Amino acid sequence: MFSHSELLDLYRRRAKRYDFTANLYYLVGFREWKYRKTAVAALRLRPGDTVVEIGCGTGLNFRLLEEKVGANGKIVGVDMTDAMLAEGRTRIEREGWNNIELVQCDAGRYKFPQNINGIISTFALTLVPEFDEVIRRSADALSPEGRWVVADLKMPNSAFKYLYPALLPIFRPFGVTLDLSDRHPWESIAKYLDEATVQEYFLGFTYIAVGEARAVETCEPRD
Ligand SMILES: C[S@@+](CC[C@H](N)C(=O)[O-])C[C@H]1O[C@@H](n2cnc3c(N)ncnc32)[C@H](O)[C@@H]1O
Repeated sequence: MFSHSELLDLYRRRAKRYDFTANLYYLVGFREWKYRKTAVAALRLRPGDTVVEIGCGTGLNFRLLEEKVGANGKIVGVDMTDAMLAEGRTRIEREGWNNIELVQCDAGRYKFPQNINGIISTFALTLVPEFDEVIRRSADALSPEGRWVVADLKMPNSAFKYLYPALLPIFRPFGVTLDLSDRHPWESIAKYLDEATVQEYFLGFTYIAVGEARAVETCEPRD
Protein backbone atom coordinates (compact mmCIF):
# COMPACT_ATOMS: atom_id res chain seq x y z
CA MET A 1 0.00 0.00 0.00
CA PHE A 2 1.26 3.50 -0.83
CA SER A 3 1.67 5.94 2.05
CA HIS A 4 -0.12 9.29 2.01
CA SER A 5 3.02 11.11 0.81
CA GLU A 6 3.78 8.47 -1.82
CA LEU A 7 0.22 8.79 -3.20
CA LEU A 8 0.52 12.57 -3.26
CA ASP A 9 3.81 12.30 -5.09
CA LEU A 10 2.39 9.77 -7.55
CA TYR A 11 -0.64 11.93 -8.44
CA ARG A 12 1.51 15.06 -8.71
CA ARG A 13 3.58 13.24 -11.31
CA ARG A 14 0.58 11.84 -13.18
CA ALA A 15 -1.69 14.92 -13.13
CA LYS A 16 -0.78 16.42 -16.52
CA ARG A 17 -1.39 13.16 -18.40
CA TYR A 18 -4.13 11.77 -16.13
CA ASP A 19 -7.05 12.33 -18.54
CA PHE A 20 -5.18 10.73 -21.44
CA THR A 21 -3.99 7.68 -19.48
CA ALA A 22 -7.45 7.14 -17.94
CA ASN A 23 -8.80 6.58 -21.47
CA LEU A 24 -6.23 3.85 -22.14
CA TYR A 25 -8.22 1.51 -19.86
CA TYR A 26 -10.68 1.04 -22.72
CA LEU A 27 -8.01 -1.19 -24.25
CA VAL A 28 -8.73 -3.82 -21.57
CA GLY A 29 -12.51 -3.37 -21.76
CA PHE A 30 -12.82 -0.99 -18.78
CA ARG A 31 -15.75 1.24 -19.80
CA GLU A 32 -14.81 4.23 -17.72
CA TRP A 33 -17.40 6.62 -19.13
CA LYS A 34 -20.23 4.14 -18.75
CA TYR A 35 -19.35 3.80 -15.04
CA ARG A 36 -19.11 7.59 -14.59
CA LYS A 37 -22.46 8.21 -16.30
CA THR A 38 -24.18 5.42 -14.35
CA ALA A 39 -22.75 6.73 -11.07
CA VAL A 40 -23.81 10.34 -11.75
CA ALA A 41 -27.30 9.23 -12.86
CA ALA A 42 -27.65 7.24 -9.61
CA LEU A 43 -27.31 10.48 -7.61
CA ARG A 44 -30.71 11.57 -8.99
CA LEU A 45 -29.65 15.22 -8.85
CA ARG A 46 -32.03 18.00 -9.83
CA PRO A 47 -31.36 21.52 -11.16
CA GLY A 48 -30.22 23.76 -8.32
CA ASP A 49 -28.82 20.90 -6.21
CA THR A 50 -25.48 20.87 -4.41
CA VAL A 51 -23.13 17.90 -4.87
CA VAL A 52 -19.76 17.13 -3.27
CA GLU A 53 -17.22 15.01 -5.14
CA ILE A 54 -14.57 13.29 -2.99
CA GLY A 55 -11.24 12.74 -4.77
CA CYS A 56 -12.42 14.74 -7.79
CA GLY A 57 -8.98 14.72 -9.42
CA THR A 58 -8.89 16.65 -12.70
CA GLY A 59 -12.66 16.98 -12.76
CA LEU A 60 -13.54 14.35 -15.35
CA ASN A 61 -17.04 14.11 -13.80
CA PHE A 62 -17.70 17.85 -13.72
CA ARG A 63 -19.47 18.05 -17.09
CA LEU A 64 -21.80 15.18 -16.16
CA LEU A 65 -22.55 16.82 -12.81
CA GLU A 66 -23.04 20.25 -14.44
CA GLU A 67 -25.63 18.74 -16.77
CA LYS A 68 -27.62 17.62 -13.72
CA VAL A 69 -27.36 20.56 -11.30
CA GLY A 70 -27.30 23.34 -13.92
CA ALA A 71 -26.01 26.87 -13.51
CA ASN A 72 -28.04 27.41 -10.32
CA GLY A 73 -26.60 24.33 -8.64
CA LYS A 74 -23.24 23.90 -6.98
CA ILE A 75 -20.39 21.38 -7.26
CA VAL A 76 -17.69 21.09 -4.59
CA GLY A 77 -14.64 19.11 -5.69
CA VAL A 78 -12.40 17.86 -2.88
CA ASP A 79 -8.96 16.38 -3.52
CA MET A 80 -5.66 16.23 -1.64
CA THR A 81 -3.43 16.67 -4.72
CA ASP A 82 -2.70 20.25 -5.75
CA ALA A 83 -1.55 19.24 -9.25
CA MET A 84 -4.76 17.28 -9.95
CA LEU A 85 -6.86 20.26 -8.77
CA ALA A 86 -4.78 22.59 -10.97
CA GLU A 87 -5.85 20.51 -13.98
CA GLY A 88 -9.42 20.71 -12.71
CA ARG A 89 -9.15 24.50 -12.43
CA THR A 90 -7.94 24.73 -16.03
CA ARG A 91 -10.96 22.67 -17.13
CA ILE A 92 -13.35 24.91 -15.18
CA GLU A 93 -11.89 28.09 -16.71
CA ARG A 94 -11.90 26.59 -20.21
CA GLU A 95 -15.57 25.61 -19.89
CA GLY A 96 -16.60 28.88 -18.20
CA TRP A 97 -18.29 27.13 -15.28
CA ASN A 98 -18.70 29.45 -12.31
CA ASN A 99 -20.47 27.19 -9.81
CA ILE A 100 -17.63 24.80 -8.96
CA GLU A 101 -15.60 25.20 -5.78
CA LEU A 102 -12.35 23.27 -5.47
CA VAL A 103 -11.05 22.37 -2.00
CA GLN A 104 -7.57 20.98 -1.44
CA CYS A 105 -8.06 18.68 1.52
CA ASP A 106 -7.47 15.12 2.61
CA ALA A 107 -10.85 13.37 2.45
CA GLY A 108 -10.33 12.07 5.98
CA ARG A 109 -10.18 15.65 7.28
CA TYR A 110 -12.81 17.30 5.12
CA LYS A 111 -15.69 18.99 6.95
CA PHE A 112 -18.81 18.42 4.85
CA PRO A 113 -21.24 21.31 4.42
CA GLN A 114 -24.77 20.57 5.66
CA ASN A 115 -27.83 19.82 3.57
CA ILE A 116 -26.09 18.59 0.44
CA ASN A 117 -28.12 16.68 -2.13
CA GLY A 118 -25.47 14.24 -3.26
CA ILE A 119 -21.97 12.94 -2.59
CA ILE A 120 -20.01 11.03 -5.19
CA SER A 121 -16.57 9.46 -5.42
CA THR A 122 -15.27 7.68 -8.52
CA PHE A 123 -12.06 5.63 -8.44
CA ALA A 124 -10.78 7.47 -5.37
CA LEU A 125 -12.47 6.45 -2.08
CA THR A 126 -10.68 3.10 -1.71
CA LEU A 127 -7.41 5.05 -1.65
CA VAL A 128 -8.60 6.88 1.49
CA PRO A 129 -7.70 4.91 4.66
CA GLU A 130 -10.55 6.62 6.59
CA PHE A 131 -13.20 5.78 3.95
CA ASP A 132 -15.61 4.33 6.56
CA GLU A 133 -15.34 7.42 8.76
CA VAL A 134 -15.80 9.69 5.70
CA ILE A 135 -19.07 7.95 4.78
CA ARG A 136 -20.28 7.83 8.40
CA ARG A 137 -19.69 11.56 9.01
CA SER A 138 -21.04 12.70 5.67
CA ALA A 139 -24.22 10.60 5.80
CA ASP A 140 -25.62 13.15 8.30
CA ALA A 141 -24.76 16.02 5.95
CA LEU A 142 -27.15 14.76 3.26
CA SER A 143 -30.53 16.39 2.82
CA PRO A 144 -33.62 14.12 2.98
CA GLU A 145 -33.45 11.73 -0.03
CA GLY A 146 -29.87 12.85 -0.70
CA ARG A 147 -27.67 10.10 -2.09
CA TRP A 148 -24.10 8.82 -1.70
CA VAL A 149 -22.63 7.05 -4.75
CA VAL A 150 -19.29 5.25 -4.93
CA ALA A 151 -17.79 3.82 -8.12
CA ASP A 152 -14.52 2.03 -7.58
CA LEU A 153 -12.44 -1.09 -8.02
CA LYS A 154 -12.86 -4.27 -5.97
CA MET A 155 -11.86 -7.90 -6.00
CA PRO A 156 -14.56 -10.11 -7.61
CA ASN A 157 -16.19 -12.82 -5.48
CA SER A 158 -16.19 -15.18 -8.48
CA ALA A 159 -13.36 -17.14 -10.15
CA PHE A 160 -12.60 -13.99 -12.18
CA LYS A 161 -10.57 -12.88 -9.15
CA TYR A 162 -7.77 -15.12 -10.41
CA LEU A 163 -7.32 -12.62 -13.26
CA TYR A 164 -6.08 -9.99 -10.79
CA PRO A 165 -2.34 -10.61 -11.46
CA ALA A 166 -2.96 -9.53 -15.07
CA LEU A 167 -4.94 -6.42 -14.11
CA LEU A 168 -3.08 -5.15 -11.05
CA PRO A 169 -0.02 -3.88 -12.96
CA ILE A 170 -2.37 -1.80 -15.13
CA PHE A 171 -3.96 -0.03 -12.15
CA ARG A 172 -0.86 0.16 -9.93
CA PRO A 173 0.37 3.41 -11.60
CA PHE A 174 -2.66 5.04 -9.90
CA GLY A 175 -1.84 3.71 -6.44
CA VAL A 176 -3.91 0.50 -6.56
CA THR A 177 -2.33 -2.38 -4.64
CA LEU A 178 -3.62 -5.83 -3.66
CA ASP A 179 -4.02 -4.98 0.03
CA LEU A 180 -6.60 -2.29 -0.87
CA SER A 181 -8.99 -5.16 -1.65
CA ASP A 182 -9.51 -5.39 2.14
CA ARG A 183 -11.25 -1.99 2.00
CA HIS A 184 -14.99 -2.30 1.31
CA PRO A 185 -16.65 1.13 0.98
CA TRP A 186 -19.87 -0.50 -0.29
CA GLU A 187 -20.28 -2.07 3.17
CA SER A 188 -20.00 1.39 4.74
CA ILE A 189 -22.67 2.65 2.34
CA ALA A 190 -24.96 -0.16 3.54
CA LYS A 191 -24.04 0.54 7.19
CA TYR A 192 -24.77 4.28 7.28
CA LEU A 193 -27.39 4.77 4.54
CA ASP A 194 -30.76 3.34 3.53
CA GLU A 195 -31.85 1.54 0.35
CA ALA A 196 -28.25 0.49 -0.33
CA THR A 197 -27.54 -1.27 -3.63
CA VAL A 198 -24.37 -2.54 -5.29
CA GLN A 199 -24.05 -3.21 -9.02
CA GLU A 200 -20.95 -4.93 -10.40
CA TYR A 201 -19.20 -4.33 -13.75
CA PHE A 202 -16.00 -5.39 -15.52
CA LEU A 203 -16.15 -9.05 -14.36
CA GLY A 204 -16.79 -7.87 -10.80
CA PHE A 205 -13.59 -5.76 -10.60
CA THR A 206 -15.68 -2.58 -10.57
CA TYR A 207 -18.82 -1.67 -8.64
CA ILE A 208 -21.22 1.18 -8.13
CA ALA A 209 -22.72 1.41 -4.65
CA VAL A 210 -25.64 3.73 -3.89
CA GLY A 211 -27.28 4.68 -0.60
CA GLU A 212 -29.96 7.17 0.42
CA ALA A 213 -29.99 9.44 3.49
CA ARG A 214 -31.68 7.87 6.49
CA ALA A 215 -35.00 9.37 7.49
CA VAL A 216 -34.51 11.54 10.59
CA GLU A 217 -36.26 10.19 13.71
CA THR A 218 -38.72 12.89 14.73
CA CYS A 219 -39.93 11.18 17.89
CA GLU A 220 -37.99 9.53 20.72
CA PRO A 221 -39.47 6.16 21.62
CA ARG A 222 -41.06 5.99 25.15
CA ASP A 223 -38.99 3.92 27.63
C1 LIG B 1 -7.71 7.63 -9.70
S1 LIG B 1 -7.86 9.34 -9.28
C2 LIG B 1 -9.61 9.58 -9.55
C3 LIG B 1 -9.93 11.00 -9.89
C4 LIG B 1 -11.39 11.23 -10.28
N1 LIG B 1 -12.28 10.90 -9.20
C5 LIG B 1 -11.76 10.44 -11.51
O1 LIG B 1 -12.74 9.68 -11.46
O2 LIG B 1 -11.10 10.61 -12.54
C6 LIG B 1 -7.77 9.32 -7.50
C7 LIG B 1 -7.82 10.71 -6.89
O3 LIG B 1 -8.00 10.55 -5.47
C8 LIG B 1 -7.23 11.53 -4.82
N2 LIG B 1 -6.99 11.07 -3.45
C9 LIG B 1 -6.35 9.95 -3.05
N3 LIG B 1 -6.33 9.87 -1.71
C10 LIG B 1 -7.00 10.96 -1.25
C11 LIG B 1 -7.33 11.44 0.03
N4 LIG B 1 -6.95 10.78 1.16
N5 LIG B 1 -8.02 12.59 0.15
C12 LIG B 1 -8.39 13.28 -0.97
N6 LIG B 1 -8.10 12.89 -2.21
C13 LIG B 1 -7.42 11.73 -2.36
C14 LIG B 1 -5.98 11.65 -5.67
O4 LIG B 1 -5.32 12.88 -5.45
C15 LIG B 1 -6.55 11.53 -7.08
O5 LIG B 1 -6.87 12.78 -7.60
